[in-house]
Amino acid sequence: MAERKGIILAGGRATRMYPITTVVSKQLLPIFDKPMIYYPLSVLMLAGIREVLIIVNPEDHNSFQELLGDGSNFGIQITYKIQLEPKGIAEAFVIAEDFLKNDASFLILGDNLFIGSGLGRNLSQVEFKYGSHIFLYEVDNPSDYGNVEMNNQGQIIGIYEKPLTPKSKYVVPGLYICDATARERVKNLKPSARGELEITDLLKTYLEENLLTSTILTRGTVWLDTGSARNLYTASEYVRVIQERQGTQIACLEEIALLNGWITESKLKNLPSFSFKSPYGDYIRNLVS
Ligand code: DAU
Repeated sequence: MAERKGIILAGGRATRMYPITTVVSKQLLPIFDKPMIYYPLSVLMLAGIREVLIIVNPEDHNSFQELLGDGSNFGIQITYKIQLEPKGIAEAFVIAEDFLKNDASFLILGDNLFIGSGLGRNLSQVEFKYGSHIFLYEVDNPSDYGNVEMNNQGQIIGIYEKPLTPKSKYVVPGLYICDATARERVKNLKPSARGELEITDLLKTYLEENLLTSTILTRGTVWLDTGSARNLYTASEYVRVIQERQGTQIACLEEIALLNGWITESKLKNLPSFSFKSPYGDYIRNLVS
């Protein structure tokens, strides 16, 4: 299997959330008890990815760096790149050029939450050689997302960005696997009517060459996007309810690193988070028997 790297796209202006996001990056806002970025990062880590590039706005670079550092606390390598203007999700593959070299990658949007038992294992097992692999999710409001059209055999035959008349109830969440050709494909894309290099247009180029495959995320996986204040609140409440009911943490990066064997217990005991006087710190101390 080709080596996989992960990209988290955490830029954008988040104008739909003003005034909350006038001085704070959306992806640093809390989802209950953790910064939002912890959740997509946890998905990459659960998928076994240790080389991560985080793409951020110029003004937020220091905050992300201070929060996550070089990733060594979590047994991974994190590097950062700046997106000067929000020119579209697909631009991530161009910005990531030096990081990716000739490798395939997982791209995850910094405001997308995926929570579900076995999700990481399933992601790490997706057979991936060339082309693009996407995930499909059934929703009630397909017009708000990238929407797919399927034939009777369940094969994708069309993909549309926020269509007024959706072709199915299946949409494409913000988690994409693309091969090394993504960068060149994006360079040939034209900006859409909203002035962005659309991820949907990139996926269409793979579809036209029969190189787009997909997996349907089952109901057992929860996918939440946090593009509005209302969604942010819903996601926080979801995380709170599950964590309090089960007594476990969702997206505890130190726990995932420990379970993956990427950090030892003695390293864990020396991390700053081991001394946090918060429920998160309590949880981490309890990981060590
Ligand atoms: O959430 C999944 C959906 O994300 C997909 O179904 C759509 O096909 C895809 O276009 C995208 O739709 P949105 O309109 O919701 O994307 P939005 O512009 O809100 O950007 C998503 C995240 O990516 C957000 O956290 C900001 C970040 N972003 C976005 C753009 C356009 C960047 O960091 N840079 C950018 O240039």
